[in-house]
Amino acid sequence: MHSDTNIRPVILTGDRTTGPLHLGHYVGSLKSRVALQHSHEQFLLLADTQALTDNAHDPEKVRRNVLEVAIDYLAVGIDPTLTTICVQSALPALAELTMLYLNFVTVSRLERNPTIKTEIQLRGFVRDVPAGFLCYPVAQAADITAFKATVVPVGEDQAPLIEQTNEIVRRLNRQIGRDVLMEAAAMVPTVGRLPAVDGKAKMSKSQGNAIPLSASPDEIRDAVRRMYTDPDHLRVSDPGKIEGNVVFTYLDAFCEDRQLVEELKVHYRGGGLGDVTLKRHLEDVLQELLAPIRGRRVQYAAEPDYIMEIVREGTRKARERTEATLAELRSALGLFVLT
Ligand code: TRP
Repeated sequence: MHSDTNIRPVILTGDRTTGPLHLGHYVGSLKSRVALQHSHEQFLLLADTQALTDNAHDPEKVRRNVLEVAIDYLAVGIDPTLTTICVQSALPALAELTMLYLNFVTVSRLERNPTIKTEIQLRGFVRDVPAGFLCYPVAQAADITAFKATVVPVGEDQAPLIEQTNEIVRRLNRQIGRDVLMEAAAMVPTVGRLPAVDGKAKMSKSQGNAIPLSASPDEIRDAVRRMYTDPDHLRVSDPGKIEGNVVFTYLDAFCEDRQLVEELKVHYRGGGLGDVTLKRHLEDVLQELLAPIRGRRVQYAAEPDYIMEIVREGTRKARERTEATLAELRSALGLFVLT
């Protein structure tokens, strides 16, 4: 079984530990990670160090969410015997690799990185960009290469970071004269980004427009009630629009009964299907999806020692892996060795 595991392509991905995971994470990545753990050697990084690059003012939030995200992973079906869950800040090799890689990238290249440019705008950093934030693509390159991952499932917005990673890989390999590091491919989800409950493009916890995996039945019901539909669909008898209607976007993403969804669309377009009735269908689907996840979350949350043990063991395994890569790279570059 072990040799079998070794030939599987390596996946590395992770999440900043800034808050609980929500339905957007579920359709965009968690669901596919649960499937991929059978065909790949999968590592999931609880990215607390990266979370600090734009949350240095709130380290307590970042710390608190490390185990919360681990619980989310387990609750959706990540199996710790198949997937290694590890804590970024407990892997010093990643920090050391980052320091090395910083010499193989220019400041202007980082400033031109499309992901970083957009995120700087979103966070209103403008002239006061923390150096750690500007350089997080380099740290992410360290994450990916330290595990020798060739497949990196990320959102479309993160694709330029994989490009940046591969540039660093090529530069280092050229410097060394052989391929010590491996290039990676981004694996972008085929489903589009799930809009927020209020119809905004991005879900955010501070706006309260996301449905967390831990949502209670009441929270699910309230979120569906508040969901943006078609503002011109005033009377039940009015014809309604499907495009931009968040309820239909969620039904498309979560309702397995395709035929029902198609029937609802026809009915809604033609008039005669009220928002209240429509939303009841979606609420049923989401209640059914989240009930077992919430149940497992509660069970895991009651066993903090078990969660800590999984994360400790995963981090131990990840430490071995990342330190091996660091040692290989130090030696390949011919760095000083204290004897
Ligand atoms: N950038 C990812 C996020 O925003 C988290 C992350 C950290 C990551 N290191 C990674 C993703 C390495 C893929 C590969 O959630």
